[in-house]
Amino acid sequence: MRRLRRNEKFRAMVRETRLDAGAFIYPMFVCPGAGVRNDISSMPGQFSMSVDNAVSLAQIAERVGVGGIMLFGIPEEKDEVGSGAYADDGIVQEALRAIRENVRDLILVTDVCLCEYTSHGHCGVIKNGDVENDPTLELLAKAALSHVRAGADMVAPSDMMDGRVGAIRSGLDTAGFTDIPIMSYAAKYASAFYGPFREAAGSTPQFGDRRSYQMDPPNAREALREIELDLAEGADIVMIKPAMAYLDIIARAREAFQAPIAAYQVSGEYAMIEAAAANGWLDRERTILETATAIKRAGADILITYYALQLAEMVK
Ligand code: PBG
Repeated sequence: MRRLRRNEKFRAMVRETRLDAGAFIYPMFVCPGAGVRNDISSMPGQFSMSVDNAVSLAQIAERVGVGGIMLFGIPEEKDEVGSGAYADDGIVQEALRAIRENVRDLILVTDVCLCEYTSHGHCGVIKNGDVENDPTLELLAKAALSHVRAGADMVAPSDMMDGRVGAIRSGLDTAGFTDIPIMSYAAKYASAFYGPFREAAGSTPQFGDRRSYQMDPPNAREALREIELDLAEGADIVMIKPAMAYLDIIARAREAFQAPIAAYQVSGEYAMIEAAAANGWLDRERTILETATAIKRAGADILITYYALQLAEMVK
């Protein structure tokens, strides 16, 4: 076996998995104000930014050649029903208009969820202490439609309510946006790895947790059912999240479905690598490349990662 490992020329020739910047999506956090660039302490190197700075960063993303960016909003105010998620002058809507004006060669994706906009931090509306499924669908469809009206090329619902893909699809179709694809967070697990994100978005649930809607980590067959349902409702791309601890799910989904699969290397995965690298315990660049490659090798077509910009430079 060593004959084909002898030098980089041979290794490159027989390499089975290659990374390509066009398949990377870079998540960004947008907040109110001007000239704002706040550190996210558990995600060194990542920031929440006002629209002006988000535009500059989007231009960098375009220049390095990543396929797209995914926007998360941190609103000025939160309320019980997450109105900021579907307000025409909401933070993501404002960011979309500004970025769309300045950036052409980048797919603008939005995360569609209520948790960053609700005072209680849950991904849906609350009744009697519980997250209500069907009343939430209407609000998600409204949020998706307002994103598309503001310039989104694709919407990515991350709430894990049942039936949201169908509700969003019909909302978009009815409004004439039949050409806008949906990338659903189809198999999204109730994971400890979202911790740093919740610091960034201020979206930690004020009571309880997300286990009544996000998936139970021990379940794999259930992920295939989730994906099957989302595809039946009209999802164009299905996502698995987190990535590294769920490579088996990615591989099984790859075997079972022909649709494009995205995987999200989440905030906690980023934080782990950064912390170890800062301590000199891991080689940062090699770890970034190796984890991205592993996610791709498992079967993901699209990689959503906070390392998208660095990776794009590395794989040039
Ligand atoms: C919103 C949402 C979350 C993430 C993406 N969309 C947080 C959550 O479900 O609590 C996590 C992303 C990350 O950790 O990088 N529902």
